[in-house]
Amino acid sequence: MPENETAVGDELELTIADIAFGGDGVGRTSDGLSVFVPFTAVGEKVRVRITQRKKRFARGEIVDLLKNSPERRKPSCMHFGTCGGCDYQHLSYEAEITAKSAQLTALIARIGHVSAEFAIAPIVPSPQPLGYRNKLVLQQCKPYPESGPGFGYVGRDKRTVLPIGACPLASEGINARLANTYLQPDERTRMEKHKRVTIREDATKRVYLSTGPTRKPRKVKERALDRELMLPLENFWQVNPTMFHRILVHIKELVIQRKPTTLLDLYCGSGAFALALADLVRHVCGVESHSAAVGAARACATRFALDHCTFIHGKTEDILDDVLTATPELQTSFAILDPPRAGCQPGTIDALRASPVATLAYVACDAARLARDLNLLCADGIYTIDSVGLFDMFPRTAHFESVAILTGHPSGD
Ligand SMILES: C[S@@+](CC[C@H](N)C(=O)[O-])C[C@H]1O[C@@H](n2cnc3c(N)ncnc32)[C@H](O)[C@@H]1O
Repeated sequence: MPENETAVGDELELTIADIAFGGDGVGRTSDGLSVFVPFTAVGEKVRVRITQRKKRFARGEIVDLLKNSPERRKPSCMHFGTCGGCDYQHLSYEAEITAKSAQLTALIARIGHVSAEFAIAPIVPSPQPLGYRNKLVLQQCKPYPESGPGFGYVGRDKRTVLPIGACPLASEGINARLANTYLQPDERTRMEKHKRVTIREDATKRVYLSTGPTRKPRKVKERALDRELMLPLENFWQVNPTMFHRILVHIKELVIQRKPTTLLDLYCGSGAFALALADLVRHVCGVESHSAAVGAARACATRFALDHCTFIHGKTEDILDDVLTATPELQTSFAILDPPRAGCQPGTIDALRASPVATLAYVACDAARLARDLNLLCADGIYTIDSVGLFDMFPRTAHFESVAILTGHPSGD
């Protein structure tokens, strides 16, 4: 059978050449069709069954592992393979980091149009590949069981909710709280009324269970470098506090080197970057669309008597033009950009190109969107890239955080 007629249900042998962004291994047929196969490692020879065929690529599942990689490991979770959370538990953590940095280099080259020789630096693995998460969001299982785990993660099929008794990615405190929830009859009955629960551990190791926003939100304590911040339980906070600290230190070192007078914290959430670095500059301005987060940032600034900090409520893409026009000392400014997974809206990119800041630190949880935005920011030499670093905020999953540092050139010089 000619391989260009590869169809769903066919079985074929492949050698895995690399691991694509998203976590699947990729093998190529002799006529160049790329086949994506989850849970494989570079160099492995596999017999696969084709499960999906598109014009330019196919997807397959392992039928037989014909040659094992030395990087293959026994997964630490019984749900690995069916749970929608983890993608790399079958690999050593070193192999996962190698794959992630190759993915970041390739995306920056292919979508960002930056030389393929560009070296990712720094590459910062997580000191804890497991037990790092300070938050779990779980969905109710249907039907709700009378005993045992009643909440869980959505599976890889994107439909089934897998009952989860413990998650190896979560902190000890969160797993203890989860187990206790299932053991207490009163708590079980109360939980049945809710579709979703969030379990969160704050910087003091206190664990909270939330079933949704309340009229009087509970406050948690989080740490941003030397400052302890208070924020509502439901507010966004980074899920891997150790790796977030590493990112804060990386950016602080740059602020110390470049000596800006003005700091902009765009998509600032509860003001983590702004409040952590406020003592190093004369003016601070944060922009954020979630009003409770703006409220928390303002309250912390008041508590620490940081009179030079302003937090503005609004969508960055709508107000950044005006914010930059009003920003004092833009020629010695440092902007941190930490958008959600979708990356920046065109209005944000346009405003940053029209009035370039001196230094831009782009913190991204989706490397493909980062690469797209770097390409837009750097067109016509308005910004140049100094470095792109990888901080592994989400070990064992397909995700990671990237931090790009750019220099702005007001006249394209
Ligand atoms: C990845 S979080 C970063 C938050 C903060 N930098 C931190 O580390 O805690 C992204 C933040 O952007 C906010 N956000 C989403 N869309 C926005 C928009 N269009 N304009 C301003 N903020 C937005 C979200 O509410 C969230 O707080």
